[in-house]
Amino acid sequence: MTTALENPELSELDVSDLELWKDGPPHEVFRELRERPGLHWSDLGDFPDEGGFWSIVRFDDIATVGRDHETYSSDRSIILVDHLAPEGQPDPIDLSANMLISQDPPRHDRLKSLVQRAFTPKRAQEHTERMREIINLVWDRALGEHPDGRIDLVQDVGVYVPSMVIGDMLGVPREDADRLVDWTNRTTAFEDPRMVPDLGEVWRALEEFIPYVDAMIKEREETPTDDLTSAVIEAEIDGEKLSHDEVLMFFFLLMVAGNDSTRAVFTSGMKSLMEDPEQMELVRSGAVPLEQVVEEFVRFHPAFAYMRRTATRDAELAGQEIAAGDKLALWYVSGNRDATAFDDPDVFDVRRDPNPHQGFGGGGRHFCLGAGLARLELKLWIEETLRRFSDIELDGPTERMRSTFLNQWSNIPVSVTGR
Ligand code: HEM
Repeated sequence: MTTALENPELSELDVSDLELWKDGPPHEVFRELRERPGLHWSDLGDFPDEGGFWSIVRFDDIATVGRDHETYSSDRSIILVDHLAPEGQPDPIDLSANMLISQDPPRHDRLKSLVQRAFTPKRAQEHTERMREIINLVWDRALGEHPDGRIDLVQDVGVYVPSMVIGDMLGVPREDADRLVDWTNRTTAFEDPRMVPDLGEVWRALEEFIPYVDAMIKEREETPTDDLTSAVIEAEIDGEKLSHDEVLMFFFLLMVAGNDSTRAVFTSGMKSLMEDPEQMELVRSGAVPLEQVVEEFVRFHPAFAYMRRTATRDAELAGQEIAAGDKLALWYVSGNRDATAFDDPDVFDVRRDPNPHQGFGGGGRHFCLGAGLARLELKLWIEETLRRFSDIELDGPTERMRSTFLNQWSNIPVSVTGR
């Protein structure tokens, strides 16, 4: 096999080393990797039994891999490891393999077609008023708890809005939002010891989450309702209903895919606006349509740093031979800063138009199901927030979530002034 990367320092680097990510994605490393020919191979330092992975960092290469599901499979796992639990213990990845995001056609397409109708931009519009109501409810609650207007944008506001929006669609009572937030945090933030002290925690969270959803499913099997959970239970593909585990994991996928992501984009995008008064003014004054602002939020702060694929056969990409079974990380954080696709890619600019970012994926079968919903939710969230507050400012040191997968802040203290 030819190795195109000659620089020894870079060649030995594990791109998924958490040390590199402590202040956010290592954009300098990705820039260098984009500019060098070939592909970079990393060994997985923290999981020596898991082999390594190729880093796909260029906009065009990400699009190529994303669209070729026959050569680059999503089967088993969207993260770089195939196993989270030690051998012999229950492994969350065995369960998550039932999610459509970890499946290939034809199963993937059949599952996706079941729910696609519920997620068209037009259907998202139907949730407009409920989303506005949730956004204001969450802000009211945060201000009730912090009447001085000093709040944590992530922990007091960010974590609740998306989980209540999806929870509403799935039929979860609003008062259970806190529990859903807790479960999703403990299952997705598996690299952050502050949230997940040991990997067994992921399973413990699932052991609380699964009976909760089981009970919801059972209730609806007896008495159908008009929410999405009922719709998924009732739906048939070619006369076949989804299995219990598939319904469960579908529910779980929507909770995690829609939750972490939308909160990450809103809070990081607002941080960028607060750091740049000129950009904030462009948004406040209405000089730039909010739809366009949302796109730059997602480009500059893609919620998922990468998604993984696995080669099903020997292939060649960017002049590099890839062997069947090799893992590939599609680094959306890098594709979104590729100078071949974007002028001044490292500059956050809400005026950017067109903005063909890869924050919802690089195209292909697995393109984000919730993109329409997320776009509208983010637009309303920015709109309501700026309508309510004449001023919103950073108010203390921010902290990153420790992760190479979730690209987000865990704390952003802000101070808000009402109108
Ligand atoms: C700003 C918010 C969001 C971002 C940045 C985002 C990003 C992504 C990305 C990058 C993928 C993988 C694409 C690929 O690998 O090709 C994805 C898939 C997915 N997203 Fe989102 N997402 C967001 C919001 C949502 C919401 C609100 C929902 C649902 C309620 C959702 C549901 C899904 C599902 C079900 C998939 C799997 C689709 C498939 O495998 O076919 N996402 N999303």
